[in-house]
Amino acid sequence: MNARRRTWPQIAASEITPEHIYRSRRQFLRAAGASIGAGLLVACAPSDGSSAAPTPAADATSRLPYGVGTVDELGKAANSFEQITTYNNYYEFSTGKEEVHTLASGFKTEPWTVAVDGLVGKPQSFDIDDLRTMFDQEERVYRLRCVEGWSMVIPWQGFALSKLLKAVEPSAAAKFVRFESVSRPEEMPGQNDIFSFQWPYVEALRLDEAMNDLALVVTGLYGKPLPAQNGAPLRLALPWKYGFKSAKAIVKITLTAEQPATFWTTANAAEYGFYGNVNPDVDHPRWSQRSERRIGELSRQRTLMFNGYESSVAALYQGMDLAVNY
Ligand code: MTE
Repeated sequence: MNARRRTWPQIAASEITPEHIYRSRRQFLRAAGASIGAGLLVACAPSDGSSAAPTPAADATSRLPYGVGTVDELGKAANSFEQITTYNNYYEFSTGKEEVHTLASGFKTEPWTVAVDGLVGKPQSFDIDDLRTMFDQEERVYRLRCVEGWSMVIPWQGFALSKLLKAVEPSAAAKFVRFESVSRPEEMPGQNDIFSFQWPYVEALRLDEAMNDLALVVTGLYGKPLPAQNGAPLRLALPWKYGFKSAKAIVKITLTAEQPATFWTTANAAEYGFYGNVNPDVDHPRWSQRSERRIGELSRQRTLMFNGYESSVAALYQGMDLAVNY
């Protein structure tokens, strides 16, 4: 155990902040930012006295491809902490979304190391506390779209996956990145079902997808350490892909030359493609992808291509037939 264990850099203040205060403080900061922006606009306004109202574009955060605070970049409010932490897909614990948080409550997330190996110049094992201090923890509000047709807006904290990959120096032969989740059947009742699934949970990306700035290694949400049911101590958030691509409780990251087999392509290749990009035009055999229901809302909304992150990621798939490579 090193001296930095149990520290929570950069977000210590919000760690002890209840959600409603976190929300109102964020709203205050955004409002304050907007009025400072408005002040600048007035200062530059024509001398006829007419003044321009601040537009969303006047808010610097609206230029980011993700939201900040508790609102996504499309202006949608985040789901509540309660919703995000009590409705979870985490098959190692259960296929029942509403019981995962209870079953995961005693899951041990410390000590924890992540090995990064394979086709890299500097293979290394990272202690979770070192990862929290090595890379600045950023806040990003992303939409999470599950292939089952529901979605949430989540204020995550974490750091760009590209920073971790650059630290191990990928070799020229590396083309894919494989993420392996923890294997602990004694603490994870779902892992005792060895007939339906091949454990551990494994996901993978092409290296250029993994290097995209939107790919986030998540260490917290709502300014608190990541709860066990959401994948503590670290998971991925890949907002342009269906949620199943965002592996939880990662213990090993391996760079490979060949496309790795994944948990879901192994379980049912006819239903789950390697890419898992959100695409309203390609239905899953059991779920239409045209629309989705935001958790907490009754009506459905139209699903956006790449879950609304098209401008950041479409270039990764140029020339590919997205109906085939789903
Ligand atoms: N990671 C692991 N290890 N095990 C899982 O069962 N489920 C995936 C993904 N990551 C899963 C996982 C699916 S299907 C979804 S939709 C998201 O986690 C759900 O994340 P959430 O529970 O934080 O909403």
